Parts: sequence; structure tokens; C-alpha cells
Amino acid sequence: MSHNSYVHGYTERESQRLVEQSEALTDLLHAGTRYPAGALVLEAGCGVGAQTLTLATRSPHARFISVDISAASLKQARTRIRRSRYTNVVFQQADINRLPFPEHCFDHIFVCFVLEHLAQPVDSLVRLNGLLKPGGSLTVIEGDHGSTFFHPSSETALRTVQCLVALQAETDGDALIGRRLYPLLKAAGFSNVRVVPRMVYVDASRPDLVQGFTRNTFIAMVNSVRRKALEQGMMEEAEWQQGIADLERTTAPDGVFCYTFFKGVAIGYSARPGKKMLRDDAGVPATFGSIPIKRL
Ligand SMILES: C[S@@+](CC[C@H](N)C(=O)[O-])C[C@H]1O[C@@H](n2cnc3c(N)ncnc32)[C@H](O)[C@@H]1O
Repeated sequence: MSHNSYVHGYTERESQRLVEQSEALTDLLHAGTRYPAGALVLEAGCGVGAQTLTLATRSPHARFISVDISAASLKQARTRIRRSRYTNVVFQQADINRLPFPEHCFDHIFVCFVLEHLAQPVDSLVRLNGLLKPGGSLTVIEGDHGSTFFHPSSETALRTVQCLVALQAETDGDALIGRRLYPLLKAAGFSNVRVVPRMVYVDASRPDLVQGFTRNTFIAMVNSVRRKALEQGMMEEAEWQQGIADLERTTAPDGVFCYTFFKGVAIGYSARPGKKMLRDDAGVPATFGSIPIKRL
């Protein structure tokens, strides 16, 4: 993915959406993810640090290196972690496909909502695999917009969602990647691959999810591609507005909204003796454990 073609963009509204998403879904997505004291964990594609905060909170004695391709997002992530007073995270700007770390140096890797934006997810997973110590784990969480269904149903609303899927495909991403996690992880050489669906079910008895997920995460995400969808003639303005209104209708007292995330956990392949570092760190080195890193 080119940095500029990232389908969600890097606006303030998008940063807020990522935080809302993370807060609304913390228990659903992070259940079962805790890292032991002293473990060195790579968070690949940390964005504005929405998941980083949860990781640092849930595993306060693990050490995290969180990387993202966007310097602006990293700045926000760093501020968020500083405010929270956690000192077990360092940030570094890097492309997932050119990470400046030695092979087999991480105990665990965590990736959330990133593979869907990568043109060659298997290649990226193979590279991440090579960074894991023998027996180290990868945790990956992705959505799948095709898993969206709701009441009252609306074909027009589904068409707005389909616009996002199509636009993401234009940037070589895959908004339907959740269903592919198992074959992707197997193709990248991981073992003990286990993928579980994590469904968000929202009705009026869960006003926190109505607001935090249906409105501020999902509808906000779809609406963020409105301009591009209209410019490309995917839908007419009036039809788009009807589709969004129909999505909002699902937040009424008698509405229901469902979406499924997919969480995969897998074990990396064993170390291959004699392998050299993938790439030297070209910047001013700092250290985090024995890992040379460039601080932001
Ligand atoms: C939807 S956001 C998810 C951020 C965070 N993991 C979360 O769940 O809030 C996707 C992030 O992936 C980053 N990203 C996309 N392609 C990347 C790449 N090749 N290398 C590193 N980061 C990348 C984007 O900059 C963006 O911050």
C-alpha cells in the first residue's frame, strides 16, 4: 500500500474513529491476549496507538515496539501512551515490509486491522514470521465487511458498504480479509493456526455499542468514503444518503446490527541458524533490550 492511498486516510476524525473502535471492542478483541513479563512484542501497524494502550495496560510487564508507516499517527500514539504513564512502549516509523529488526528477535507479534490494507499480505506475514523467535506467536485481528447484517435490512445500505469494499480493493486492499486469515497464515508458514470469529452484536440494550461501534466506528468508516464513492459514480448522492440513513436506522430502539471480526493466533516457524539481520538500522541507534531501534 502506498502511504497516500490508504483508504481510511489520516484525518482527525479517522484518529477518533480508531480510538472509539478500540474502546468499544476492547474486551471482544483483546480477550485472551496477554504477554508475560519481559516478553518483547512487536505491534505492527499501531496507527494512533488505540490498541497499543490496551496492550500496554493488559501486559504492563511486557515490552512493546510499536511501528507504523505514518509519522503523524505515531506522534499521536506516542502522546497517548505518555499521557497514560506507561513506559513499556517505544515507537518507530517503519514499513511492515522493510522492518529494521534482526531476524528471530521478537517473542510475539500483534497486528490489528493492517493486513486488510496490504497488497501482498502473505509476503508481509512471511517477513513477520522471520522476526519471531522459535515458538513465538503472532496474533492478528481483521474485520470482514461482508459479515455485516442488520435489522431493518436495506439493500441500499449494503450498497454503501460495498462502495467501501470496492474502493479498498482499488488500493490493493481487501476489506473482506477476515474470512481469509486461516489460509493466509498457513501460506505464510505459521503452525498451530487457530482463527476464531468474534461477533459484535448490537441492540438498544447496549447503548455503549450503539454509539461506540455502530455509529462511531462502522457508519463513520463507511461515510468516510462518501466523496470518493460519489466522485466515481458508484452511487448517486440521494441514494448514498438513503443508505447511510438506513444504517442509522439500525441504531433505533428496535434496530439490530451485527458484524464479525476474525482473530487468528499462530506459532512462527523455528529459527534457521546462520541467518543474518534482514537490514541494518540506518538511523541513530537507541536500544530496547538488545534490539537497536530509532526513537521517534
Ligand atoms: C486501520 S489502521 C489500524 C491501526 C491500529 N492497529 C488500530 O487497530 O487502531 C491501519 C494502520 O496500518 C498502517 N499501515 C498501513 N500499511 C502499512 C505498512 N506497509 N507499514 C506499516 N504500517 C502500515 C496505517 O498507517 C494505519 O495506521
